[in-house]
Amino acid sequence: MEVIIQPNERQATELTAQRIARLVRAKPDAVLGLATGRSQLGVYEQLVHMHREEGLDFSQVTTFNLDEYIGLGAEHPGSFRHYMQVHLTGCVNVASERVHVPDGLVADVDAHCAAYEASITAAGGIDLQLLGIGSDGHIGFNEPSSSLRSRTRIKTLTAETQHDNADSFAPGEVPRHVITMGIGTIMGARECLLLALGARKAQAVADAVEGPITASVPASALQMHPTAKVVLDEAAAGLLKRGSYYKSVYEGKPDWQR
Ligand code: GLP
Repeated sequence: MEVIIQPNERQATELTAQRIARLVRAKPDAVLGLATGRSQLGVYEQLVHMHREEGLDFSQVTTFNLDEYIGLGAEHPGSFRHYMQVHLTGCVNVASERVHVPDGLVADVDAHCAAYEASITAAGGIDLQLLGIGSDGHIGFNEPSSSLRSRTRIKTLTAETQHDNADSFAPGEVPRHVITMGIGTIMGARECLLLALGARKAQAVADAVEGPITASVPASALQMHPTAKVVLDEAAAGLLKRGSYYKSVYEGKPDWQR
C-alpha cells in the first residue's frame, strides 16, 4: 500500500485527478471504477476542466460506479446516477452506453448484481478503481462485517452512514438499502486509488492503513491489494503513526515513479 500525504485538500484532489488523467491518456479505452461522495467532487471538477481545456478524451472510456441506493432512479437528486451525470458523465464525452451505475429501480436485484459483475468482466476488468472511505471504514457501500470476498449485492446501511449521507435527502428519507460492488469486486481492479479528506476520516484511515485486516474495517482489505494507493490531506492523515515515513518515501521518489 502506498500512502501519499499532501499538504491540503486541493493538492490531494489534483494528484488523484492527475493519476486518472494519466491512465486515460496512456490507455484511451481504460475501464474506470468510479465513486461518489463529497471527497470526489474536486476530482471530477478537475477531470471536466482537463476535458474542456486540454482535450482529455473520454470517448473510448468505460465506467462502472461502485454503488447506488435501492429505490432511487436517475431523476432523483440523491441518486448516484444523478450525481455522476451532474459532476462527470454529463460533462465529458463519455459514451452513454459505456457508463454503468447499478440500477436502484431494478425488480430482480440478484440478477442485476450478477449481470453487473458479468459486464465488468466483459469489459476486461477495471483498470483503476477510485474509492472514498466512509467514517465507519466502508468502501463502496460495503459496511463493517461485509465479507472481504463479497461481490456486487444488496447491503443495508449502518445508522452512521445514513446520518453521513443525509444531506441529499429530506429528513427521514435516506434509503436504507443499496446495491454495491463487493470488496472482492473492488479487489479485482488492477489499481485502487482511495482519496480521503478531512479530520472526519482520520480514524477510519488509520484503522484501514495501520490496523489489522478485518471485515470490521472494510477498507483494510486494501492492505492485500498489490497496487493500492491512499491519497490523503494532512487532516485525514492526522492519526497515522507512520506519517513522516510515508512522506519521506513519496518525497524521495523520482518524478517517473510518482
Ligand atoms: C458514500 C459512498 C462511498 C464514499 C463515501 C464517502 O457512502 N458510497 O463510496 O466513499 O460516501 O463520502 P464522502 O466523500 O462524502 O465522505
